[in-house]
Amino acid sequence: MTPEYPSPAPATPPVGVAVGQGQPNDGRTGVPVPRRVRVHHLRQAKARGERISMLTAYDAVTAQILDEAGIDTLLVGDSIGNTMFGFDSTIPVTVDDMIPAVRAVASAAKRAFVIADLPFGCYEASPQAAHASAVRMVKEAGAHAVKFEGGAHLAPHVELLTNVGIPVVGHLGFTPQSENMLGGKRVQGRGDDAAEKLVQDALALQDAGAVLLVLEMVPASLAERITEVLDIPTIGIGAGVHCDGQVLVWTDMAGMSSWSPRFAKQFGEVGAELYAAARAYKREVAEGTFPGPQHSFQDE
Ligand code: KIV
Repeated sequence: MTPEYPSPAPATPPVGVAVGQGQPNDGRTGVPVPRRVRVHHLRQAKARGERISMLTAYDAVTAQILDEAGIDTLLVGDSIGNTMFGFDSTIPVTVDDMIPAVRAVASAAKRAFVIADLPFGCYEASPQAAHASAVRMVKEAGAHAVKFEGGAHLAPHVELLTNVGIPVVGHLGFTPQSENMLGGKRVQGRGDDAAEKLVQDALALQDAGAVLLVLEMVPASLAERITEVLDIPTIGIGAGVHCDGQVLVWTDMAGMSSWSPRFAKQFGEVGAELYAAARAYKREVAEGTFPGPQHSFQDE
């Protein structure tokens, strides 16, 4: 029997494509719990033409909201360095920085497939290094998969992790951990040779066992070609509409960032809302109108 792609929790407003049914009851509380999105659901989604949604998340509060909204996959990206730690790149982020964030997101997300980024320096040197770092993400932090940046030269790393049961997500195109080598944030894969290399890298990662492939800042036509060539789903960021899914950094998506890249559409004004709430709080504290009687305790 073909497993169904899990639906979001019942309270979830309809988002994206219909992704099938399935609300198993946990048998104790009577409260329906959503089924977990898993690797085979993502593959089925591609086969059925259902588009996969991915957002980054770095903490439990946000992850719970995004999960309840029905986002299919949450990526604890090393973009945590830019968004939460105030660095100007992802390069300083460490595995120890990532672990608490991954643990928070994995604990809060009841439905989403949770992916942990392997940060710069913890996986490139050998498949064994990748294994050691990935095991920490899965075992200590509860990730369902790990992602790392790079092409065919990392196929042995993907193969080892796949063989020991850790799903791997590839990341090609603009790879932020290599921005010093790439000469800054630049579109990748322009021109026949560069495009062909990206296609070959994508195939090598798939052949080694990768379960998903993120394509960042590549021409839309190239992302379309890679998406057609691969059996595994592609997830685009600045890679056009023909990928099997899309990912954005949640702070860009929600309007929390002071700057965001051209490809990042802003779907909300959360930053402005937070600013307004903080201003209102400050005003009431200054005026002495907060706390009111309803927020205060009496003798009896
Ligand atoms: O770290 C991150 O947020 C990412 C996405 C931009 C894909 O890798």
